[in-house]
Amino acid sequence: MVVDHVSKRYRLYHERNDSIKVSIMRGGRARYEEFWALNDVSLDVTAGRTFGLIGENGSGKSTLLKCMARILRPDMGRIDVEGKVSALLELGAGFHPELSGRDNVYLNGSILGLSKRELDAKFDGIVEFAGLQRFIDTPVKNYSSGMYVRLGFSVAINVDPDVLLVDEVLAVGDEQFQRRCNEKFADLKSAGKTIVIVSHALESVRNLCDDVAWLDKGNIREIGNASTVVDNYVDEVHSERSQVTEEGGTRWGSGEGAIERVELVDYKQTPTSRVRTGDKITFRLHYNTQEPIPKPVFGMDLHRVDGIHVTGPNTRDADQVPDKIDGRGLVEFTIDRLLLLPGTYDVTTSLFDVNGLKIIDHHTRAFRFDVEAGDPREVAGVVSLGGRWDVDALNGR
Ligand SMILES: Nc1ncnc2c1ncn2[C@@H]1O[C@H](COP(=O)(O)OP(=O)(O)O)[C@@H](O)[C@H]1O
Ligand SMILES: [Mg+2]
Repeated sequence: MVVDHVSKRYRLYHERNDSIKVSIMRGGRARYEEFWALNDVSLDVTAGRTFGLIGENGSGKSTLLKCMARILRPDMGRIDVEGKVSALLELGAGFHPELSGRDNVYLNGSILGLSKRELDAKFDGIVEFAGLQRFIDTPVKNYSSGMYVRLGFSVAINVDPDVLLVDEVLAVGDEQFQRRCNEKFADLKSAGKTIVIVSHALESVRNLCDDVAWLDKGNIREIGNASTVVDNYVDEVHSERSQVTEEGGTRWGSGEGAIERVELVDYKQTPTSRVRTGDKITFRLHYNTQEPIPKPVFGMDLHRVDGIHVTGPNTRDADQVPDKIDGRGLVEFTIDRLLLLPGTYDVTTSLFDVNGLKIIDHHTRAFRFDVEAGDPREVAGVVSLGGRWDVDALNGR
C-alpha cells in the first residue's frame, strides 16, 4: 500500500451559536475554520509486513487509517491499496444496534464482499473466536464494549482480507482475548497478509510490527524499524513528562505540601526514563511544603500501563517516619536489583499523614518509565522472581 502525499482537512463549523437571522444575513454560508489533521503524509506499507502507527492523541492516526480504509477521502494526495481491505476502526462501527449478532455478522460479511454461502461456512468459526455462542441471537445494542470488539475483530479477520487495518479498539478486550488476537496477527502475518495497527501499547507495537510511523500533529515525524522508532518516541514523550504536570494524571490533596518532581536515576545517578531488568535504580521524590508537616508518609504506586497494580511501597511500612518536614527536601527509594520485566510503567506518588487519614498530595501517573530486557532475560508476566534453575538437581548433592 502506498500513501502518497496525503493531506486531510476537517472543517470546524461555528454556526451553532448564530441565530437564523444572522446566518441568513451572511448569505446562508456557514463560517468554519479549517484544520489539517494530516499534512503531506507519505509512507509505504510493504505487502506482507506489519506496520504500526504511533503518536499522541489527536496526531491523526485514526484519520490516516480511515483514509486507508476509504471511509474518508484525502483532500490531497492518494492512497493505492492492492487487495481486499478489512478494517476494525471505531467501537461498533458498522454494526446495526437493533439486529442480532448473527444478522450483523451476515451484514458485515456481505459488505466485505462475502457471499451467503461463504459466510455460512465461516459463521461458526467467527462466533467461536468471538466467544459469543450464547449471545449470538441477542441484539448487539445489549452487548458490552468488549463483546462488540470481539465480534467486530472476529468478522474482520475471518473474511480473509489481504490488508487488515486495526485501530486501538482492541485494548478494550480482556487479556485472554488480546492474547488470541496477537496469535491471530501472527497467523495472518505468516500467511503473508498486510496489517496496519494503531496502538498505545508500545511493547506490543515493538514486538508485533516490522515498521512503525510516528505521527506528530498530522506530520510524519519518523518512519523506520519498529524498535528504533518506538525508542525515539518514548524518549521524547518522557523528556516532556519528566516535570510534574497536571496533564496525564489526576492530582488532589489538602495542599500543605507536594511532591513536586519525580526522577528516576540509574546507578551513575544519571536521570533516565529507560532502565533494564536487573538494574540498580533510584526514584527521587522532590518535595516542598508550605508549612511544617508533622509525621509525613511518602508513598509510590507502580502500575503497568495496562492497569496492573504491581506494588505500592511507602515510608511508614519501612518504619521511616520523620517527626516533621518543613520546606524543600528529597526522599529516595533505591532498588538494588529491579525485578520488573519489560514494559511501560506509571508511578503514582503520594504524601499523607501517618494515620493515612489526610491525603496531602496524591498524583496519579506522575512519571512514566520503560523497562527493557536485561538480566534475568525473562519476558512473560510483570516481575521476575529472581529464582535459580538447576536442570541436574539429582547430581551434585
Ligand atoms: N470528524 C472530525 N471533525 C473535525 N475534527 C476532527 C474529526 N475527526 C478528528 N478530528 C481532529 O483531527 C485530529 C486528528 O484526530 P485523529 O485522527 O482521531 O487522531 P488520533 O487517532 O491520532 O488520536 C484531532 O485534532 C481531532 O480532534
Ligand atoms: Mg484515534
